[in-house]
Amino acid sequence: MSRTVIRGGLVITATEELHADVLIEGERVAALAARGTEAAASWRADHTIDATGRYVVPGGVDAHTHLDFPFGGTFSADTFETGTRAAAWGGTTTVVDFAVQSRGRSLREGLDAWHAKAEGQCAVDYAFHMILAEVNEGTLKEMDALVAEGVTSFKLFMAYPGVFYSDDGQILRAMQRAAGNGGLIMMHAENGIAIDVLVEQALAAGRTDPRYHGEVRRALLEAEATHRAVQLARVAEAPLYVVHVSAREAVAELARARDLGLPVFGETCPQYLFLTVDDLARPGFEGAKYVCSTPLRPADHQDDLWRALRTGDLQVVSTDHCPFCFAGQKELGRGDFSRIPNGLPGIEHRMDLLHQAVLDGRISRRRWIELACAAPARMFGLAGRKGTLAPGADADVVVYDPGARQTLSARTHHMNVDHSVYEGREVTGQAETVLSRGRTVLDRRTWTGRAGHGRYLPRATCQHLD
Ligand code: URP
Ligand code: ZN
Ligand code: ZN
Ligand code: ZN
Repeated sequence: MSRTVIRGGLVITATEELHADVLIEGERVAALAARGTEAAASWRADHTIDATGRYVVPGGVDAHTHLDFPFGGTFSADTFETGTRAAAWGGTTTVVDFAVQSRGRSLREGLDAWHAKAEGQCAVDYAFHMILAEVNEGTLKEMDALVAEGVTSFKLFMAYPGVFYSDDGQILRAMQRAAGNGGLIMMHAENGIAIDVLVEQALAAGRTDPRYHGEVRRALLEAEATHRAVQLARVAEAPLYVVHVSAREAVAELARARDLGLPVFGETCPQYLFLTVDDLARPGFEGAKYVCSTPLRPADHQDDLWRALRTGDLQVVSTDHCPFCFAGQKELGRGDFSRIPNGLPGIEHRMDLLHQAVLDGRISRRRWIELACAAPARMFGLAGRKGTLAPGADADVVVYDPGARQTLSARTHHMNVDHSVYEGREVTGQAETVLSRGRTVLDRRTWTGRAGHGRYLPRATCQHLD
């Protein structure tokens, strides 16, 4: 079994910071020992990584990605190969992607198709949530089997009528099923029926530019759906996880639910923390790059999101990585914003943007690791293996240079997409060396990983909700 020691760094987990050396045996973390102690000095290793002046942090866990995802008449531009490689470049070593049920087909067929897409392609470990496109007797029964084999979370949509939309009765049934089998319902909370009326009216009035995507998907309609989802979960006595929260009014709904002691959780994404509705209004159809749902909001929503990330009313930052190239994909919506494929690229830069937030005084270093690594691992049944550095955990480790300056750009990123929504933005901090289950996949900014190293992770049910 190979032994690696990472010496001289500042180890940061969600719960502590300590100057410690880390011993890795094979695929696992074997021990941590305070620097200079006899224990640390006695370790013999085949390979030593010098982390002097660096942070040593758990690999990131991105609990919301869409690789090779069919949407808006096209497929997201990153495959499992390119997307997981870009993730690793950015210090993320676990992705939980959304397998999709096609209408008229079983969950099993959808899940099998996603296994086939991912198998042998991934640079880092991966798991699946399941998107329910249809809630009926058959799919409700199938949920039990999926939970038992490690697909323990299910996304439902209150948006996208005619595509992924479920009505309140279907949502209630799925929540009741999840309450019984230990699954977690993840909700896309926007009132899609009302939004479609506003879309139709906007287009009829000649409002076809990307910025109208932000106008019709009103914050109030995110808040209304969030409120409704909370009440349905309450009736079903099921926990609820609301994905890609962007509106301050939706945050308020989650905070109110949590103040009542309800098991209600939420994530936001870097795009809602760093980009705004002004980006949607960029001239020359540039705004199409910024079309995602929920939409980007006015800048004053960001303070509420940051506050919720500090107080715990929001628990997770994931990317909702769903890249579409400007050429040929985003362009499908020229003259009709409702035809622009929804989604932004982001899998590579989540750790760095959140580190920048540490430098900006928005969150602490430990909160950075909690939001990006530890909380998503606990929430999605990967606690103990992912999201932390402790004996027995998978040796997914990032040697992070907190002083490295970088300019985010499509010219240098590793995502398979022709633009960056952060083009030209300067951030400080960068993953320098990345290990996935003990294997170095990025060595001082040189790629050493390979497609197929990443393994499928069956997940436990949600282990630690708080
Ligand atoms: O715009 C987005 N978020 N695209 C991905 C699909 C979804 O709703 O998460
Ligand atoms: Zn969604
Ligand atoms: Zn998504
Ligand atoms: Zn707890």
